[in-house]
This record gives sequence, structure tokens and C-alpha cells, in this order.
Amino acid sequence: MATNDDLFKNLISHCKEYGFIFPSSEIYDGLSAVYDYGQYGSELKKNIREYWWKAMVQMHENIVGIDAAIFMHPTTWKASGHVDAFNDPLIDNKDSKKRYRADVLIEDHIAKIEAKIEKEVTKARDRFGDAFDENQFRSTNPRVVENQKKIDAINDQFRIGMEASDMAAIRQLILDLEIVCPVSGTRNWTDVRQFNLMFSTQMGSVSEDASTLYLRPETAQGIFVNFLNVQKTGRMKIPFGIAQTGKAFRNEIVARQFIFRMREFEQMEMQFFVKPGTEMEWYHYWKEARLKWHRALGFPAGKYRFHDHIKLAHYANAAADIEFEFPFGFKELEGIHSRTDFDLKSHESFSGKKLQYFDPELNESYVPYVVETSVGLDRMFLAVMSQAYTEEKLEDGSERVVLNLPAFLAPVKVAVLPLVKKDGLPEKARELIDQLKFDYLCQYDEKDSIGKRYRRQDAIGTPFCVTIDHQTIEDQTVTVRHRDTMVQERIAISKVRELVESKVSFRNVLTA
Ligand code: GAP
Repeated sequence: MATNDDLFKNLISHCKEYGFIFPSSEIYDGLSAVYDYGQYGSELKKNIREYWWKAMVQMHENIVGIDAAIFMHPTTWKASGHVDAFNDPLIDNKDSKKRYRADVLIEDHIAKIEAKIEKEVTKARDRFGDAFDENQFRSTNPRVVENQKKIDAINDQFRIGMEASDMAAIRQLILDLEIVCPVSGTRNWTDVRQFNLMFSTQMGSVSEDASTLYLRPETAQGIFVNFLNVQKTGRMKIPFGIAQTGKAFRNEIVARQFIFRMREFEQMEMQFFVKPGTEMEWYHYWKEARLKWHRALGFPAGKYRFHDHIKLAHYANAAADIEFEFPFGFKELEGIHSRTDFDLKSHESFSGKKLQYFDPELNESYVPYVVETSVGLDRMFLAVMSQAYTEEKLEDGSERVVLNLPAFLAPVKVAVLPLVKKDGLPEKARELIDQLKFDYLCQYDEKDSIGKRYRRQDAIGTPFCVTIDHQTIEDQTVTVRHRDTMVQERIAISKVRELVESKVSFRNVLTA
């Protein structure tokens, strides 16, 4: 049995071997935590983006989309708080010379205590069977209660230290918890320092005139600064949303786990502007709506969970993550934040321009509150790929690697395969492709045995392989082979389009 570690390594190799993801500038040995999407990866990524855009913009009359520039006036980032507060607490181990995020060291320590709790719960569940009451067990079992208390105490100390920007207290917490460097095994730690995550660059040709710009660390600010432009030109009435997808950049210190934490990545964000005082209602609404969007992909319910934040970002009064069970454990996939009126108020005061909404029902103006949904496109890609990647042992003893992608996300929807390269079969195959290619990305393949060609399509997740054989010329029927079940059926060539459409349409998931 392959472990999750093995599967994750195999998935990374598969992504490269089959043209999904390459290390950036690989011929120069790559660039750490930066990746390029290949011919199939960019298709899958585009389809995930489209799924998000359709669900958020097309399906909501009161949400519109924009595409703001990556470069923004530098004062934007003063106003948003990113210049002063977008920091990670860093600590170095003096023996290994390795650098860590202090919060990650503490989180990893908490995860170990959580694992102890889960072990107790699993043991008890096995012992008591159907009679097991998990809530009661968690609140009464002395070892579980004691470990939970430890976790709560660590979280409290960490939150207080971070809120007060007291880095000495964070270092003391690491010492008190006896956390050791995973490389050297020692507790020889430096002080904790705050490190800003924004990349900067210069705009202007002459150095005296040049001003420092930042590459945006989130797409959200492009929405805030355009709030009134969109509200007025779109005659939007509160509550309404503005959505955007695009690149964001962060100088991550701990860049790891493939495309999970990158230095250049893509976000899909929506800011929902609401009447002050109604933000909690909308916060809960969007938490559920976003989970539903993820669940519509058809992955098991147990793969998702909410994680309510203890350490809130500088702009939020409530925040939760939707976590997904990646091969390396449950981790953040999407964030839902109640951002109050922090951003709009701050932009008002830095720009001197009013950013208020005139509410015709109340006959008064106010700065709206904002509920944000923010999901990383690359992280969605990783979630989808890690769920889809399957190493299967078949009944005849052979093995196949198949991507069980939701059909509407698959890069190639239909492969058309002439059984032989002669007798008019290639021409017939091309005829079918010519009909389908306006709606679906199709692939023509005539090389190798039909079995090998099926395997190649399985490896990139193509839901349908259509084989053209001699009988096709006689009676206009083809064999359609289904990716997941490998079942083959003979249907009229005129019915292929209908069959494909019934499985790959966005309609299936958007109405789920
Ligand atoms: N505007 C709010 C915001 O940016 P965040 O929790 O920092 O909030 C939102 O980021 C989402 O962006 C995350 O849930 C994650 O999916 C994605 N993300 C953040 N940093 C990332 C990184 N370094 N690499 C890949 N995805 C990242």
C-alpha cells in the first residue's frame, strides 16, 4: 500500500510528466516556490477559474466581476495595513542555520497534541461501536480534556503575544513548549523578528523619480479602491458583491508542499458589501455557500472542515477557513473573512475621498461592511488533483494511473481514436473532431495500440475516448469508452455530442 507521502511524490512527478506543472525556468534549475502550468495544467486551471466565475458572477445578479491592475498606488498598501502589519514572525535555529515561521512551529506542536486526542477518540470509537457518543467522550475523558486544555492555553498565549506584537513572548512560548529544530534537534533559537511579505519594485526610468511599488499580496485591494466606480456605473444596490481573479505575490519564507504555498499565485476573491450590523448574517451565509461550491465537485464530505480563526488578520472581526484534507493533512483551502469597514474607512482617510454608499431606503450614507471570500486557484488545483489522482490495480493484474477529475473540469473532454491509420478511419475521426471542437477541447491520437492510447487519456483525465473502426464507416456508430468505469458502449456517431454535453456541462454543478 502506497503511503500518502508516496502518493504525493507520485502526484508531483505525474504533474510534470504529463504536462500539468513544471518548475519555473527549469533549465536554470528552477526558482523556489514558483511554478509554470503546462498544456493540460493551464486548461484545468482555466476550468476551475471558470467554475468559480460562473458560480459567483454569472449565477448572482448582485455580483459583478472586474480585472484590476497588479500595480497599485503605493499608498494603497499603507492604507490596507500591509506595509505595517503584513508580517510573518521568523525565528532561526543557530545550529542548523534554518529559518522557520514561529507560528508554524507552534501550529505543528499543537497538531501533535491534536493527533494524541484523535488517537484516543479513534480507540474509544472502536471499543464502543454504535453506542459511542463522541461529544460526551471529548468533554469527559480526562486525557482528552487535559490535552485540549493544553491546546487552548497555547492558542491563548500565542494570540495575546501576536496581538501585542510581543515577539519576546512568542520566543518564550517556543522555549516553554520545548520545541526543537527538526534539522539540528536543538533549542538554540534566535530572537523572533517580524518580516514583511510584500515584494517591491521601482516604477520610473530615472532613479531620482522612481517610486517604490509593491506587487499586490492580495487582489482584494483592487476591488476596494474601485468600490464607488463599480457601485455608481453598475447602479449596484447593497447588498452586492465585486469579484475578481488574478495574480498575487508573497515572499513566503516557508515555501513548501509543491503549489500549496507559492511566491507567485492566483486568487479568486469576492468582496460582498453589506449594511453595517448585518455582516455576521452574511458571514455565515457565505461560509455555507462556499462550502456548498466545494462540495458540488462530488468529493467526500469528510474531506472538508471549517476552522475558525483565533489569530485574526488586522482587518477582520471574524474569520474561518474551509480546510481540505490534502495528502499532507487538513490545511486551509479558502478563507472567509468579515472585514468590517476597515479597508474602505482606511482608504477614505488616506485618499481624502468619500467611499460611502447612499442607501435610498434609509435616506442616509454610510461606509458598508464587507464579507470576503478568498480562495487560492493553485490550492484548488492541488485539492482537485490530489483527490483525482488514483493508482489502480485492475482485475487482470495490470495497473493504471487515472485522474478521476470531475468531467467538466477535465482539460481534454474527448479523445477521438481511429483504430488503424488507413481505410478512411483517420478522415472519419477528424470529421467528428471538426464537429465537436467548437465546444470542447478534443484530441486526435492514432499512435500505438488502442490500449496504450486509453492509458494516455486516463493519465490526463479525459472522460471520453471515442474509437472509430471499420464498422463506423458502414453504420455510423462508434465505441465510447468511459474513463472511470472503463465500460465501453456502441452508440450512433450523431449521439456523441449529446452524451458528452450531458456529462461535461457546468449546468450539472451550478444547479447542484
Ligand atoms: N484577501 C484575503 C487573503 O488574501 P489569505 O487567507 O491570506 O486571505 C486567501 O489568502 C487564499 O489565498 C488562501 O486561502 C489560499 O488558498 C491562497 N493563498 C494564500 N497564500 C498563498 C500562497 N503563498 N500560495 C498559494 N496560495 C495562497
